[in-house]
Amino acid sequence: MKPNEPSRTALLVARQRAAHQLLDRGSILDDPFAMKILREDEKDVLQFANAHPLASIGRLFTAARSRIAEDALAGALDRGIRQIVLLGAGLDTFALRSPHGALEIRIYEVDHPATQAWKRDRLAEAQLTPPPWLTFVPVDFERDDWEQALVGAGFQPNSPAFFTWLGVVPYLTRDAIGRTLGWMASIQNSELVFDYMEPPQAFAEEMRELVAKRTEQLEKMEERWASRFEPAGMAALLRTHGFSDIEDIDFQEIKSRFGHAVQGLAPGQAGLHVVHAKRRPGGQVGRARE
Ligand SMILES: C[S@@+](CC[C@H](N)C(=O)[O-])C[C@H]1O[C@@H](n2cnc3c(N)ncnc32)[C@H](O)[C@@H]1O
Repeated sequence: MKPNEPSRTALLVARQRAAHQLLDRGSILDDPFAMKILREDEKDVLQFANAHPLASIGRLFTAARSRIAEDALAGALDRGIRQIVLLGAGLDTFALRSPHGALEIRIYEVDHPATQAWKRDRLAEAQLTPPPWLTFVPVDFERDDWEQALVGAGFQPNSPAFFTWLGVVPYLTRDAIGRTLGWMASIQNSELVFDYMEPPQAFAEEMRELVAKRTEQLEKMEERWASRFEPAGMAALLRTHGFSDIEDIDFQEIKSRFGHAVQGLAPGQAGLHVVHAKRRPGGQVGRARE
């Protein structure tokens, strides 16, 4: 990310969520704040959605990963988890929409200081008041000790937690990913939903061109894709950190679960995955197999 500037990709995905409300009637993710959190000059989301024939794939993936995360979170709440951490929250509106306030949950939004300040400004401009269960924790994952910042903000490391890490892993170095997984895994009974990208060969031919173009755009924005993983490598990394219960949902599965809800969905295979992983008591760190 550019120093002192908010994430441009956070705005791109927020516009995809808003386009999903208009074009697909929010049928995967119903988000009444998706449009409100955008500024006036960002609300031309239909033009944005039609700017590229493959934009429908981004819309599907953005809405589906939030749906998967929020459904998994509902299950975790049933199992008694009350701490929720949104790592790299961007313009995600889950904290505003959460139907779980009565359960005395705590939601921590951890994000880059520049992105978080920018989000808080636009919440104020849109007269969207942060709910009482939300705490903002500004940190740079590559530089700061975000665990310490989170604990300083009231997070209880001895109680289980549910983490989402949506649209962030591809932008981080392997070092930062490993450190973050290690800390999340140190919390017994923690759960995590995140997404990752495979190397370009996993994308259909016609999509590789888009991926190459997006790579160039991201270079200009200084928000580079820094890490890609093969599914077996990702599973091994998670197990190394002691996550023993791993569901890896690939793009094919995402399309079959949610594709029908996206208008004019472009055909093709994408190397995109959403993972739901759990750290169970006694899960061994460093195990090679589940
Ligand atoms: C593509 S956006 C995704 C935002 C959000 N999770 C969503 O799905 O709408 C990437 C997010 O990662 C955050 N991010 C990227 N690199 C970061 C870093 N080094 N430290 C903290 N946050 C970072 C950005 O600020 C941004 O909010």
